[in-house]
Amino acid sequence: MINIADVAYSRLQAPDLDRMEAFLTDFGLVRAARTKTALYMRGTGPGHHIHITELGEPKFIGLAFHAQNADDLIQISKADGATPVETMDEPGGGQRVRLTDPNGISIEVVHGMAKLEPLGVRANVMNTGDASRRRAGTRKILKAGPAHVKRLGHFGIVSPDPAATVAWYRSTLGFVGSDEIYVDTEDNVMASFNRVDHGAEYVDHHTFLCVHGMRAGLNHLAFEVADTDDLLIGHDHMKAANSGSHMWGPGRHVIGAQVFDYWLCPWGHLHEHWTDSDMLNHDHPLALHPRGEGVVGSQWGPPPTQAFVDQVS
Ligand SMILES: [Fe+2]
Repeated sequence: MINIADVAYSRLQAPDLDRMEAFLTDFGLVRAARTKTALYMRGTGPGHHIHITELGEPKFIGLAFHAQNADDLIQISKADGATPVETMDEPGGGQRVRLTDPNGISIEVVHGMAKLEPLGVRANVMNTGDASRRRAGTRKILKAGPAHVKRLGHFGIVSPDPAATVAWYRSTLGFVGSDEIYVDTEDNVMASFNRVDHGAEYVDHHTFLCVHGMRAGLNHLAFEVADTDDLLIGHDHMKAANSGSHMWGPGRHVIGAQVFDYWLCPWGHLHEHWTDSDMLNHDHPLALHPRGEGVVGSQWGPPPTQAFVDQVS
């Protein structure tokens, strides 16, 4: 029905906002607003917030997407089960339409939210590869501390019915397939990686991942950080602060090729740091891969931990 601009924010529920804010601050997010009942965290990018936690029993509520324009908000309000366009009574303002995906996950399509001044991040020029003298004559001294999360870049959901789920996200929000991993036959998809459709413009390899599983719900939330140094410094900080549980990484994915590192929040929601994704455009048709060596795991770094595998399926 529409082609979304990008994923905007996630919406979780947790019983202790102080504890969630402490975890997310160590993870590299910054408080944008906090009310008695909700926590709004931003990245260094201009989005007003990219992560919401509402006070309550631990729960994944859903995801929000930026519409490209106000007309698209009206268009999506005509989808089956969609609300009319409503004004958001939350920090950041804007308007939204609410829908529910085939797994019962709350979906918001938003437009007109406030933008914030981006937060400064140190430059990180590398002497590497063909550009081995880019910072000749300068010294590099990096500071310890949390990673610098830029934006929510992608999300994964688990579904007992990936085919129906992927069909809904493609037909409703405009996603297109980048890569799929299948078992035995090509229609038996166990993982589907989908990007936003901006035509000739290059976009992240995937914004939406759907994985087959026995339950329906969140697989992971994935936040882009400044660069590889930033991801590794953030890893050291999370360990030193004893914040969250480390689940897998650092490594470089095969499909999408991001450098990654995964952390579990205190209520069992998987949060990923990533940087340096493949970027594709409309010249890249969907590629299908049989499950097996060479499509899952890492290009470098450790294999997935059993705790990670259990968590995401
Ligand atoms: Fe990811």
